Amino acid sequence: MLSINLRGKTAFVVGIGDDKGFGWAIAKMLAEAGAKILVGTWAPVYKIFLMSLEQGKFDESRQLSDGSLLNFEKIYPIDAVYDTLDDVPEDIKENKRYKDLDGYVIADVLKSIQQSYGSIDILVHSLANAPEIQKPLLETSRKGYLAAISSSSYSFVSLLAHSAPIMSPGSAALSLTYIASERAIPGYGGGMSSAKAALESDTRVLAWEAGRRYGIRVNAISAGAASTRAARAIGFIEEMIQYSIANSPLAKAVTMEEVGHTAAFLCSPLASGITGVTLHVDQGLHIMGIAVDSPSLAK
Ligand SMILES: NC(=O)c1ccc[n+]([C@@H]2O[C@H](COP(=O)([O-])OP(=O)(O)OC[C@H]3O[C@@H](n4cnc5c(N)ncnc54)[C@H](O)[C@@H]3O)[C@@H](O)[C@H]2O)c1
Repeated sequence: MLSINLRGKTAFVVGIGDDKGFGWAIAKMLAEAGAKILVGTWAPVYKIFLMSLEQGKFDESRQLSDGSLLNFEKIYPIDAVYDTLDDVPEDIKENKRYKDLDGYVIADVLKSIQQSYGSIDILVHSLANAPEIQKPLLETSRKGYLAAISSSSYSFVSLLAHSAPIMSPGSAALSLTYIASERAIPGYGGGMSSAKAALESDTRVLAWEAGRRYGIRVNAISAGAASTRAARAIGFIEEMIQYSIANSPLAKAVTMEEVGHTAAFLCSPLASGITGVTLHVDQGLHIMGIAVDSPSLAK
């Protein structure tokens, strides 16, 4: 029987802060396929995530199909807007959420992974942030726009650049994007649409460069709307889910499992011929040219 087998592989999934996001769903499916999971959790939410995990708050979501619980080998605090310690401003170093944490910059996390595990086979980037997400692009400041690009796009470039030397040929990198990169989605502001467009372009360029230099595949999943913590910050996520149900060919909203399954496939040897692709997992919504529930179409 053909199945996804990731036994013996190590995955580093960056961007898990609770059990509701795509990062968690992807980590869970990679674990279902047998991979060992290392997690990168945003430094300011690291302690609360660890505490919730230890207190059993995620135990229901940790259930795997064989009856065991999803286990994280190690959880690293990380802030993916900083490559080296020199990049971290003094006020952040002194911030109470960062002060007791060590090695949360990208270079140090990867060094630490190399020391403990030697190598990784899968890198998943499931993070985004835009301080001005609720502002239309026309009202977005330069600072806000560049912050969105830094945390949502360049973070992937840097993570891959630092991971690639410890990834063997046949390894895979994956990021999460959204259709606002290709089509205008009013409300997805603050430069996040630009950041996703950059991320998708980088997926192609990095697929070429990392493919030739390291034999690594680089792909992106363009996911449909889902009610995660990051998505709720946008402000209209429930309406986008209803829109997908009303207008997508499959008349549904995307599920976490669907994105997790696709990620497991793309990161597995079954997808060995696929790189540089942005794959829509959105019930087909991206193919539509009209909103079929538009009042303009009512007879
Ligand atoms: N939810 C949706 O509707 C949707 C649709 C398409 C794509 N996506 C993308 O999926 C990815 C995951 O988001 P999600 O919706 O699952 O929400 P989420 O809130 O579960 O995940 C986002 C994570 O990014 C982390 N993060 C933010 N800034 C960071 C930084 N500087 N360094 C490290 N981590 C940082 C947050 O702590 C959080 O854990 C994002 O790239 C998002 O844009 C989401």
